[in-house]
This record gives sequence, C-alpha cells and structure tokens, in this order.
Amino acid sequence: MKILGIETSCDETALSLIEVHALGNTLKILGNTVHSQIDMHVPYGGVFPMLAKREHAKNLIPVLKKTLEQAEVAVPALSENLTLKKSLSAEKEKGVETILAQDPELLATFKAYIGTVEKPDIDFISVTVGPGLEPALWVGIGFAKALAYVWDIPVVPANHMEGHILAALIERTGENTYNLLDRGLLHPALSLLISGGHTQIIVIGKGERGLEYGIIGETRDDAVGECFDKAARMMGIPYPGGPKISKLAAEARAQNIQSPEPLPRPMIKTMDFDFSFSGLKTAVLYLTQKLTKGENGTVVPLTENQIKGIARELEDAVTDVIVAKVAAAAEMYITETLVVGGGVIANTHIRKALEKLCADSNVRLLLPQTDHSTDNGLMIALAGYFGKNRAVDWQHIPKASGTLPIGPRIG
Ligand code: KG4
Ligand code: ZN
Repeated sequence: MKILGIETSCDETALSLIEVHALGNTLKILGNTVHSQIDMHVPYGGVFPMLAKREHAKNLIPVLKKTLEQAEVAVPALSENLTLKKSLSAEKEKGVETILAQDPELLATFKAYIGTVEKPDIDFISVTVGPGLEPALWVGIGFAKALAYVWDIPVVPANHMEGHILAALIERTGENTYNLLDRGLLHPALSLLISGGHTQIIVIGKGERGLEYGIIGETRDDAVGECFDKAARMMGIPYPGGPKISKLAAEARAQNIQSPEPLPRPMIKTMDFDFSFSGLKTAVLYLTQKLTKGENGTVVPLTENQIKGIARELEDAVTDVIVAKVAAAAEMYITETLVVGGGVIANTHIRKALEKLCADSNVRLLLPQTDHSTDNGLMIALAGYFGKNRAVDWQHIPKASGTLPIGPRIG
C-alpha cells in the first residue's frame, strides 16, 4: 500500500511517499522532502500566514516532483507517437482549473507538470486538514483535491497532531525501513505533544477503528515552542528561537554559565495536567529589561554570557515543568508507554530528561527520530495509513480547521 502524505499546516511544505506492508507491519520511506520557509519568515519574527500560503503554492509542485523522482515513480507520460506529453486531457484540465481556481500560481505549475508524468503507483493521499494556519492548510487541501481528481484516488483527511504522535510509532530497521509499533503499544499509553502551537498530555486508547485520543491537560496560554520562540526574540535571537535556545543552553552548561536570576516554573505544583508558559516568557522579558537598563535611559546590550545563562535557565524551567506534569500524569494513569511528539522534542535536553524519567519509572518511552520531530510529510502519510478507513473522494475532503482537536477533553 503506497500513501502520499501532504503537510502544509505551518511553514514547511512537506511531502512523503511511503509503502506499508500491513502483514509484516513494516514501512519503507520511498521519498521524503521537506521544504522549509523559515528564511522567508525571519523578518516577521514568526510565521506570517499569507506568506506561508503563497510559498506553499509556489513550492508544492517542485516538492512533489522531487519526492516522486526520489521514489522512482515519476514515469514520463508518452503520447501515441511516443513523444513526451505536455498536458492533461482537455476534460481533466478543466476540472483542475475549477478545483484550483482560488490559487492561480499553484494552478499554473500544476498544469505545467502533472500531465508530463504517468499516474504514479499510489493508492491514496493523506493531507493535513488541521490544526494549523488556515490559509496554509487551504493550499495543501486544494493540492490534494486536484491530485486525487487527476489520479482518481481517495484522500484521508489527517490531523496534524495525530501525525506527530504516529511519527514516534515507527522503529528504524535500515536506511529507509521501519517497523510499525502500534500493535505493540502497551496501554495505558500517554502522549506528550510539544510543538509551536500545542502543549498537551493525551491518553491514547484503543478503539474499534484504531487509536483514540482524549486530552487530560493542555496549555492555558502559550505553547512550549511558542514560549521558546518569543523569549528568544526578546533576547534578540531570530525566529525560530527553539533550536537556538537549545544550542546556547548546551554551551552554557559546557562552560558552567548560570542565569543572572532564576526563572519561574509556572503551574509546576498545581494538581492538574495543565500548563501555562506566557508568564515564563514575560519573566524573560522583565529580566532582559532589567539587565539592559543603562544609566539615563540608555540601553546596554545583553552580554553573550547573560544570553547563554538565560537560555539555559529557560530550557531548565520548561523541562522541569514538563517532567513534573508528565510524571504526575504517568502515575495517575498507571502508564506503560509514553509517546512524545511535536517539534520541541527535537530538543536534546528535554529528550534526555524524559528518558531519565521513563527509565526511573519503568515506562516505555517512544520518541520520534530527531529529523521526524519537526513538521514533515512522513507523519501525515502515517496518519493516512492509520486513518485509511476514513478515506473520502476528492469532492468530500473536509474544510481546513485551524483549531481541529485531536479528541475530546476527558480530564
Ligand atoms: O511541530 P513543529 O515543527 O511545528 C508546529 O506544529 O508548531 O514545532 C515547531 C516548534 C517551534 O516553536 C520551534 O522553535 C520548536 O518547535 N523547536 C525546538 C527545537 N526544534 C524545534 N524547540 C526547542 N529545541 C529544539 N531543538
Ligand atoms: Zn507540528
């Protein structure tokens, strides 16, 4: 079974073609391309939705071409006289024009490319329909619709956050080969999701139609990744701050540099599994304002050591809160397995802290590969595989939902 995953919910245009052998429970990544728009968004200090949409529209066809070529499924389409075809049939072209009427730039590149290759050997498409930036989601959905129409294959509407969970449910066995771990998942299983838009603790249940999710805790304001990015910006570190904070914190530890002042651990002692990170961000703001206040209203820049020390303290504060909340949840739910997902789990310090927690409490920990932690098409292809019972034809793909929940709040 071959599945094409399409992810455009934020600032990565990402496609992946996977082959799943359900009997053997194995998976092969045939093609995988992530085109990051980060450089485009740096001047805005964050992701600017309409720019993200335009960039996705520009990059989807090049990313598709690369992915199909990598997977060796891009066979040039030939006419009867064996010359290369240049376009779709008049009927299909008209259909595509209607589907992509809102997206002239994508339509132009789509029409120029799609007729030049034979319909590839792909069983279905999986596309992120939420949560995320709606304008960015629209383009991916429109693209999936047009492809499904031209190739006459179904589409699974995928939840981005479920994709993050599933990215941890594969175990590498070779260069591009993996075992699927879902059947070996020991319940009760908990998931921690930490990304730029979400911070959640989730109970993973086994339903008749596959895995089911219930939220037992989440952030009341900023997400962890958002806190890293915004706090970094206050220290003059460009978007996305998360990876840079992590690097500076590691340097601070290696050089034994401390923060000038401690930062708070918000909600660490509350008897629930909710989080709050906006206060931590504000504490970084106040601390940097205090440190940069010179005489007579002048501003003195933060020193390199101050920046490193604050980065370390910020990472420690976030890690302490996450570990405390997950430890309490794991105890309450007598957890056998912890599955972690979302871009922030690319962070080495948080990975190590969760590894220690799980080793100490005898919980099986499933982490995604570091390069599968931030947004990618593989996780959406996996969500397609697990959600294949929900496949629809191109006319019935649901609308984009910026706030699509992974499941109900149950605790
Ligand atoms: O999952 P993701 O790629 O996009 C969303 O769905 O939001 O997560 C992106 C977030 C950003 O906030 C980024 O700063 C953060 O993940 N991030 C990190 C690291 N790598 C990415 N945060 C801390 N340490 C990292 N190494
Ligand atoms: Zn994400």
